[in-house]
Amino acid sequence: MKLEAPAKINLYLEVLGRREDGFHELVTVLQTIDLVDDLEVALRPKTAGAPAGQADIDFRLDRESLVGADVPADERNLAVRAARDWLAAAGRLDSHGVDLALLKRIPSGAGLGGGSSDAAAVLTALDTLASGGPELQPLAAALGSDVPFFLVGGTALCLGRGEHVTPIEQPACFELMLGLPDFGVPTPSVYAALDAPTLRTQPNPREHARHWATRLAQADVDALESIYRNDLEPPARTLHAPLDDLLESPAVHLSGSGSTLFLFGSAEQDSGFVCAPSSMRRIRHRSKNR
Ligand code: C5P
Repeated sequence: MKLEAPAKINLYLEVLGRREDGFHELVTVLQTIDLVDDLEVALRPKTAGAPAGQADIDFRLDRESLVGADVPADERNLAVRAARDWLAAAGRLDSHGVDLALLKRIPSGAGLGGGSSDAAAVLTALDTLASGGPELQPLAAALGSDVPFFLVGGTALCLGRGEHVTPIEQPACFELMLGLPDFGVPTPSVYAALDAPTLRTQPNPREHARHWATRLAQADVDALESIYRNDLEPPARTLHAPLDDLLESPAVHLSGSGSTLFLFGSAEQDSGFVCAPSSMRRIRHRSKNR
């Protein structure tokens, strides 16, 4: 089965506080875009002689030029972990194996959710190929905070640590420019540098979903601009001087914990990307609907 695993940007990211388990409680709105990884997934009988109780996964990884060498080509890759977790949860570790071929276009450490999207696509493919199986949401949430969103895609409000996903009506398709610096940013370092309060309030999911559905229904690029917020920008700027310089321009935004920067619209000329360092790639994309 062939499928595409899209990248995301955060249209809004508010940190409500640090939780007792060390994660942060979020209100975030995620949007898939048309920068995609390509995946091929096959569910087949387990190879004769393969060790019992262990996942039999054949993984082939190709990388396009934007992607650095730091995408793991072994069982540390989130796509492989998703296949292993699905086989285990489906009770098929000793009967079945999985072939995965992944063409990476989404850079890692970029705040674009590439690894999480690959993992969700693997879960979705295996569920389809097996005509059902274990519930995907808990498997996805155990793999990472953004993985449940990618089971749904489009535009969604994500609460909790990001795993409680409510799809919302999508704004009209819009263009955006991505700026991809030649360095990645590890997400935990940005959260660690964030001066977040201890959590006191819990959001009301229904109220928030209604609020966001209303705001996004009519949103054009200007409206998206006025809605945009990202509480991870200050710590990311403190940690990475080149991001700090680029984010001086009010039109330039950070996706998630970075390092990807983006602008709504495609008017590169008027933007902070004009003075971007030559090490940063600029690519034009569109939002991608479900
Ligand atoms: O869930 P995921 O593995 O994507 O998270 C990566 C890291 O980001 C976590 O280990 C944690 O440090 C941080 N994080 C957080 N609060 C969230 C999501 C992620 O503190 N809601």
